[in-house]
Amino acid sequence: MSNIVIVTGSVRPNSVNKSVVEMVKKDLEKRDNVTVTVADLATIGLPFFDAPTAPSAEGYEAPHDSVKQWAELVANADGVVLVSPEYNHALSAVLKNALDWLYAEWKDKPAAFVGYGWYAGVNSHANLLAMNANLKLKLGETYTGLAFMKEINPDGSYADEAAANTAIKATLDELVAAL
Ligand SMILES: Cc1cc2nc3c(=O)[nH]c(=O)nc-3n(C[C@H](O)[C@H](O)[C@H](O)COP(=O)(O)O)c2cc1C
Repeated sequence: MSNIVIVTGSVRPNSVNKSVVEMVKKDLEKRDNVTVTVADLATIGLPFFDAPTAPSAEGYEAPHDSVKQWAELVANADGVVLVSPEYNHALSAVLKNALDWLYAEWKDKPAAFVGYGWYAGVNSHANLLAMNANLKLKLGETYTGLAFMKEINPDGSYADEAAANTAIKATLDELVAAL
């Protein structure tokens, strides 16, 4: 069994993220030999990064219990799916902070990106790729970009269910093949 962790990139109470995470979860649950865990960053409640050293520094120790639990969750994942909105042409701050907290846990971790928004997550994906020069997640060649009014609506409902699910499936096929 492979354990895939879906990371929620928005902590807003009425977030579109909840719908997109459900779409990703539904796809993964149809697959054999995969268990799915949703890492809800609202519940995990990581503080803003305030460690005395960088997570890449030798001897780095996570200085908070919530960060230790987050590190363990990621370390035990065979693969991760980052589901993120795009805020001001970048990843959400809450997701960036969650990425910043860890280093060794991300290296070579099979990962997939599912972005959404008015620009189909093109800028948030570019932001993730820039971060990944350091993090070294094993990202697939493709990512899912769900555009408002095309694949999904700004309230999180489907605009084109088949197109949304096809795009998600392609990204997750690649992730599962990399496990
Ligand atoms: C501060 C802020 C900045 C935003 N910037 C962008 C943007 O650069 N590109 C985009 O496509 N949508 C942008 N949006 C719209 C979001 O895509 C939209 O609000 C979406 O619902 C956010 O995801 P969430 O509901 O999961 O939090 C922005 C929204 C906020 C609140």
